Amino acid sequence: MRYKKTIPMARPSLGREEIKNVEKALKTHWLGMGSFVYDFEKKIQKYIGVKYAIAVNTGTTAIHLALAGIGIVPGDEIIVPSLTFVGSVQPIINLGAKPVFCEVEPDTLNIDFDDAEKRITKRTRAIIVVHYGGTACNMDRAMHMAENRKIRIVEDAAHAFGSYYKGRKIGSFGDIACFSFDPIKNLTCGEGGCVVTNKARIAEALRRKRLLGISKDTWMRYKNKRSWFYEVVTEGYRYHMSNISASIGLAQFDKLEGFIEKKKRIVREYDNFFKKIRGVALLRRNYSETAPFNYTIRIGRNRNKFIDYATKKGITVGINYIPNHIQPFFRKFSTKLPVTERIWGEIVSLPLYYDMKESEIQRVKKTVKDFMTDTAK
Ligand SMILES: Cc1ncc(COP(=O)(O)O)c(C=O)c1O
Repeated sequence: MRYKKTIPMARPSLGREEIKNVEKALKTHWLGMGSFVYDFEKKIQKYIGVKYAIAVNTGTTAIHLALAGIGIVPGDEIIVPSLTFVGSVQPIINLGAKPVFCEVEPDTLNIDFDDAEKRITKRTRAIIVVHYGGTACNMDRAMHMAENRKIRIVEDAAHAFGSYYKGRKIGSFGDIACFSFDPIKNLTCGEGGCVVTNKARIAEALRRKRLLGISKDTWMRYKNKRSWFYEVVTEGYRYHMSNISASIGLAQFDKLEGFIEKKKRIVREYDNFFKKIRGVALLRRNYSETAPFNYTIRIGRNRNKFIDYATKKGITVGINYIPNHIQPFFRKFSTKLPVTERIWGEIVSLPLYYDMKESEIQRVKKTVKDFMTDTAK
């Protein structure tokens, strides 16, 4: 049999532009937070249409910083869908707060607001809404739930850089949204993240906390200069982005719309093909508004067998995600989530990335079709 190269599930698209930009950053000899980070933040502000962008070193630290910045303290309860990356949940634990896991909608894998609403108590301080796969949650409903209740909506927009909700970029209208620029996101910095907000007070708190609670030094650092004087004015973390990471992100920015368009095209092609296959359930999505991150389908109880089958065929597939409430470390926060428990046994994510070749797309389609046709017999 002819050897076929394994198709990854995701892969960053990197070229000469990223290499040139990293070289430029290296040549400044200012490797930490500096002018590249400042330029990157300005680009994000313009792209999203938001007043403040605070670049950090991962999407997880963006969420931690956001929760700390809105004043989450030990004992607070934060509602979060269980079916999300663990990076949405550990920041809650890091702050001594309690994750209250809730259900997702089976057809979008976004938060089920009816279920979330039932879990609100006097101690609820925030709801983390995850825009799964780049598809926006119902933000009208989210804002409505938060109004008059002293609850904040924190958007985990790790999957949704470049997505819209009702014609507005995600991150441009809520209180606070967090992005990830990890290696497989639509835009990568190698590792990186960002918090965006329109609220000056929140932005100020985030800037201070991002760099060890130091207040005076930020502007000098942006100019690649170090001032001898600094003051520590609050509790803080070492979460700032480096110039090297920002230099990669800046190069990626010019290609972002191309990345999104290609991934959208693959998603449409997959959807049009898979919708005709018995036993495959597609996620509901809005093609014009979604900048897709991953491609997840539901294939029923043979999911694990499919993973083995695809692996043998040289196709890497994944599960986004194993529910957090069944993870050993989070067991003490576990609760009954029958929908999530059923759905996670059915979901599988297929390869989706910008540099996917036509032959690879066809191989993925055929593999799903062959498996589903065989198991239906
Ligand atoms: C939904 C979600 N939230 C948070 C994160 C954390 O981002 P990072 O990997 O940059 O820490 C991710 C990363 O995959 C994610 O998918």
